[in-house]
Amino acid sequence: MIRVSDYERVVFFTGAGMSVESGVPTYRGPGGVWKEYDYEAYACQPAFDRDPTNVWEFHNYRRGLVGACAANRGHQLVAAAAEQVSVTVVTQNIDGLHQLAGTQEVIELHGSLWRVRCDACGAREEDREAPKAVLRCACGAWWRPDIVWFGDALDDASIAGAVSSIGACDLLVSIGTSAVVYPAAQLPLIAREAGAKLLEINPEPTPMSAIYDECMRGTATEMLEALCR
Ligand code: APR
Repeated sequence: MIRVSDYERVVFFTGAGMSVESGVPTYRGPGGVWKEYDYEAYACQPAFDRDPTNVWEFHNYRRGLVGACAANRGHQLVAAAAEQVSVTVVTQNIDGLHQLAGTQEVIELHGSLWRVRCDACGAREEDREAPKAVLRCACGAWWRPDIVWFGDALDDASIAGAVSSIGACDLLVSIGTSAVVYPAAQLPLIAREAGAKLLEINPEPTPMSAIYDECMRGTATEMLEALCR
């Protein structure tokens, strides 16, 4: 049985399944966001250029929903693991729940629901307003959610940080990702090539399950309770 305390540098590589128990819907599961909303209308740059108000209505709906959610026991167990070992969270989630649970080292591969940027003057700001009322930057241009939408490149600094922490870990724990979105889905391969132990936590198998030394088929919290004992 793998135990976090048997390792020194642990990366938790998390996806939407990590936040299900907080009430945040996944993207592709039952009731998933992309089952109800067409990302080509709400979550890509061409949609934003075409109709920023529509895109903001969707993101304010998400701010409202996610803003009402608290970090769950799984997030807390990941945060507490940092008392035993060095912990880095590399997450695809934009909900900020790892940080709310107290995890310090969080790399947000896909940005954050709680950050906006202005592509005209370069300004950036964080706020947890739900809904966000002021949708234009002081320079007059639209604030854009600082999220990696479909068709966007990932931020160089996040990728560099993820590659370096994953390349240096001795245990990688993937939690709640369907492993179908790239380049994120291939990042665990770096840990395997570096000789780390790989563990997948997901009630369902994924296209990447074969690279893992062990697959725990259960929910994030259930499996983390055992792993962090
Ligand atoms: N505990 C652990 N895993 C769970 C749980 C749970 N309680 N409930 C569901 N899961 C698993 C599902 O089996 C599924 O494999 O979580 C996964 C969620 O998959 P997706 O909805 O595809 O989410 P994710 O992999 O994070 O999506 C990646 O896609 O839409 C884009 O940018 C968005 O970051 C997102 C990326």
